[in-house]
This record gives sequence, structure tokens and C-alpha cells, in this order.
Amino acid sequence: MTTIAVIGLGAMGLGIAQVYAAAGFTVLATDAVQDARDSAIERLRTNLLPRVEARKMPLAELEALLSRITIVDRVAAMAAADLAIEAVIEKIDTKRALFTDLEAVVGPDAVLATNTSSLSVAAMAEGLAHPERLLGLHFFNPAPVMKLVELVAHPLTSTDALGHARRLTEAAGKTVIDCPDRPGFIVNRCARPFYGEALALLEEGRSATDIDAAMLAAGYRLGPFALIDLVGADINLAATESLHAAMNGNPRYYIHSALRDQVTSGNLGRKTGKGFIHPETPGPAPADAAAIALRIEAMIANEAGWLLAEGGTTETGIDTALKLGLNFPRGPFEILAAYGRDRLRDELHRLAEIAPAGLADRYRPAPILEFA
Ligand SMILES: NC(=O)c1ccc[n+]([C@@H]2O[C@H](COP(=O)([O-])OP(=O)(O)OC[C@H]3O[C@@H](n4cnc5c(N)ncnc54)[C@H](O)[C@@H]3O)[C@@H](O)[C@H]2O)c1
Repeated sequence: MTTIAVIGLGAMGLGIAQVYAAAGFTVLATDAVQDARDSAIERLRTNLLPRVEARKMPLAELEALLSRITIVDRVAAMAAADLAIEAVIEKIDTKRALFTDLEAVVGPDAVLATNTSSLSVAAMAEGLAHPERLLGLHFFNPAPVMKLVELVAHPLTSTDALGHARRLTEAAGKTVIDCPDRPGFIVNRCARPFYGEALALLEEGRSATDIDAAMLAAGYRLGPFALIDLVGADINLAATESLHAAMNGNPRYYIHSALRDQVTSGNLGRKTGKGFIHPETPGPAPADAAAIALRIEAMIANEAGWLLAEGGTTETGIDTALKLGLNFPRGPFEILAAYGRDRLRDELHRLAEIAPAGLADRYRPAPILEFA
């Protein structure tokens, strides 16, 4: 019998516990806060009851799923774990302390995993007795719905640990993509130019509705501004700032004042009732929709090209991650194949020439776009 331990029963941890329990695994789960522990099973039931009412899930299946989850009051009660996944607050000291506690109780073959979005897995492994069994399992929100999991290896992670985590997570129905321990991993990093280049266009005087309409015409389900409005401009700004800092201020992650100003204005998107576009919707595509899409997609492909050059991932892995993680209609390397390398490189050169002072390097082509 395989046992999965989940630590942290907030939005992500509860969803991750559901994912493995739904696949038939025994789940041990805990949280530092008693109320989070006491309410966890009822919160899951409340989340799942609409599925039962819609006849998408038999009540017996819901009860069986819940019966496979045992809430325990401390990490010391998780000795049986084959795989322990933490989804506690995004603070490296908290996560390190937790893994030190876990190491002392789990068996020698157990794998430890972090669901961090933005911290270095290698840094988290420092000081552990067995850093080779720590890896990242980056689920997306909501975990039961999103198919993608980024499997993050740091330089010391063992192939055994990676294989074990992959098998268990694939058995739980997820598509697991290998991912380097680089800031933003694959999805959060390659998503930046979708927003960033749209913000550059906005600052040049284009309207948010025109830009979104252009991307809808190119096959995207949501435009960049509708997506910022959905998640929140404050969340988008925090993610951009985090990546900008982690990548040493590289201008590809330049923080546009249009985004900062939006956050300052308090119009954060759906959650405040008004955003860049929300509650409006984009109108018809502008006459130059194809040029707008080319510009944004050239930057998506270029970002993916730089990530690929850093190692630890593949073209197919990156394409799959962006299609599953962001609902993109095509991945960056499919974009590259569709336009051709020369067209994308020419576009980047054009953008470098018109870039504001200090930002030309933002458009430097990745090795894959350079002349063969
Ligand atoms: N929310 C997202 O969209 C998302 C997506 C992917 C990854 N993540 C990552 O998942 C992790 C959790 O995010 P979340 O949104 O679920 O947060 P959350 O605030 O909803 O939940 C965190 C839970 O961890 C508990 N906790 C804090 N310290 C603890 C400790 N030392 N031991 C046990 N429990 C502890 C808290 O009581 C809380 O219930 C973070 O690392 C975050 O970066 C979040």
C-alpha cells in the first residue's frame, strides 16, 4: 500500500490530497493550524458535492475518496509516507524546517517534494541529511483540475527519487514534465512575455482591448489583459518582480509602469470589479492583429529558447507545459515552426531597434533563433 503525505491544507494542499486519494492512494495530511486540520475533510466534501449533485460522481465514490484521507496532528505521525509533499506558506525557512522534521521520521526510500512556485529547490535541500531525495512537484491551481505537474530536479536529486515521484503522480492522472530548477520553472517563466510584451504595446499607446482581441484572433482563449484581470494585477506584479529579481534584473522581465500603476490604482481585476479590461470584453480584432500576435509570440518563443539553452528540459516538454498550464493553443516551439526562425529573429531585431533606452537587450535572440 502506497502512502502519500501532504503537509499544508490550504488551497493547494487540499487539492493535492484529493488528487492522490482519488487515485486510490492512502493519504496522510496535516497542517500547523488546528482549524485547517479540523475543517479539511468537510472543505473537501463541500468542494466535491456539486459533482455528486451533477451526477458526475457517485456519492459512494466521494465517501471512499474521503475515507482514504487521514488527518494527523503532526509530521511525526507521517512515518509511513512513501512520498511527502509540502504545500505550506512560501517561505524557505519554514519549508526547510519542515523537511528536516520529515527526514527524521520517514523511511530511507521515501521521497520529499515541495510544491513551491518561486523558491530554489536546491536552496531548500541545503542542510538536509539526504538532499538527493528532495525534488519539486509543482502542481497548478486548482490541483484536481489542472493536468500539468512540473517535476523539478536540483543537481543532487537522484534518478530513483525522480522516477518514484513521476510514477506515483502519473498514476494519479497527471502529465508530469521534467523541469530545471530555474526561477519560475517552465510555465511561470515562459508566461512572462505574454503579459510583458502586451504591457509594452500598451505603453506604446495600443489599447488593452485591441491587444486582447488580436490574441483571441490568433487562437488564444484569453488575451493577456483578461488573464491578468482573472488572476489579479497584484499577483501578476509579484510574480514579475520575483522573476526579475531572481534573473538579476534581466530586461526580459522588465516591470512595466503600466502594471505598477494598475496595482496602485486598486483596479486589480475581477476580484475588485475592474481591471485592465474587466468588466468589458475585447471587440473585433484590429487591422494589424497579426502583427501584434507575431510580436508577442516571437517573445514567447524567444523566452522558451533561452530556457531550453539553460538545460534540463526539452522542446516538447516546454510546449506541453504551456498548452496544459496556460491553455495556450500552441507551444513556443510550435510557434517557432509555424513562423520560421528567420521571421521571428527579424521581428526581434526590429523590436530591439525601436526599444526604449536600456531595453534593447530584452530582444536579444536566444541561441535557437540565431543563424545556424
Ligand atoms: N495558490 C496557487 O495558485 C499555487 C500554485 C502552485 C503552487 N503554490 C505553492 O503552494 C504552496 C501553498 O500555497 P497555497 O496557495 O495553498 O497557500 P495557503 O495559504 O492557501 O495554504 C498554506 C497552508 O499551510 C499551512 N502552514 C503554514 N506553515 C505550516 C507549517 N510549518 N506546517 C504545516 N502547515 C503549515 C497554513 O496553515 C495553510 O493552511 C506555496 O508554496 C505556494 O507557492 C501555490
